[in-house]
Amino acid sequence: MLTGELVRLRALEPSDAESLYRWVNDWELGQWMTNSHPRSLDQIRKRCEDRKVNTYELVVLGIEKIADGKLLGVVDLRDAEPEQGRAEVDIYIGDRDHWDGGYGTEALRLMCNYGFAMMRLHLIALWVVAENERARHVYRKLGFVEDGRHRECFRGQDGKYHDMYLMSLLEGELK
Ligand SMILES: CC(C)(COP(=O)(O)OP(=O)(O)OC[C@H]1O[C@@H](n2cnc3c(N)ncnc32)[C@H](O)[C@@H]1OP(=O)(O)O)[C@@H](O)C(=O)NCCC(=O)NCCS
Repeated sequence: MLTGELVRLRALEPSDAESLYRWVNDWELGQWMTNSHPRSLDQIRKRCEDRKVNTYELVVLGIEKIADGKLLGVVDLRDAEPEQGRAEVDIYIGDRDHWDGGYGTEALRLMCNYGFAMMRLHLIALWVVAENERARHVYRKLGFVEDGRHRECFRGQDGKYHDMYLMSLLEGELK
């Protein structure tokens, strides 16, 4: 269920720390994402070692390229509530050389399918900055629809405020 044609989703390992360290310090990658303050390699290593097991409330998975076993990015399903059957999804392909290679679309499809089939979710939601055209294209392609636009709720690294869309995908709508 977590393996496609291009990528497989797997739990993160302590040995993934170097990749994660590179990505948290990559401005272009994080342009439209909520970023934490800079973290050292040691801090990220420790976080990887102390990482809690995946649970219904938070499933964090690495996106691994099948062809060479390389870690390409991370996808998570968070804040799942069994009573509501709703969760939010986040994704990034950290290795920018691999953007537009179909990896993000497949990884997100696998994660959503996992959420609907294994976790019995009814709705998966996400937030995306209006200017993030590539991400919005991928989300629409998978069947997500725009529920609403939240004005100037995201402060970018350019110091400006940007609108975000709340998007959702219902059980049975995944393409
Ligand atoms: C968004 C992201 C996860 C998509 O993953 P990806 O592997 O690059 O995406 P894919 O290759 O599967 O698909 C990219 C699609 O966007 C299209 N695209 C690329 N640039 C685009 C643009 N400026 N406008 C519209 N569509 C665009 C591609 O043509 C492709 O569509 P197609 O398959 O229909 O031809 C990845 O680019 C990423 O991590 N970006 C930075 C972090 C980020 O923005 N995360 C999401 C936060 S909400």
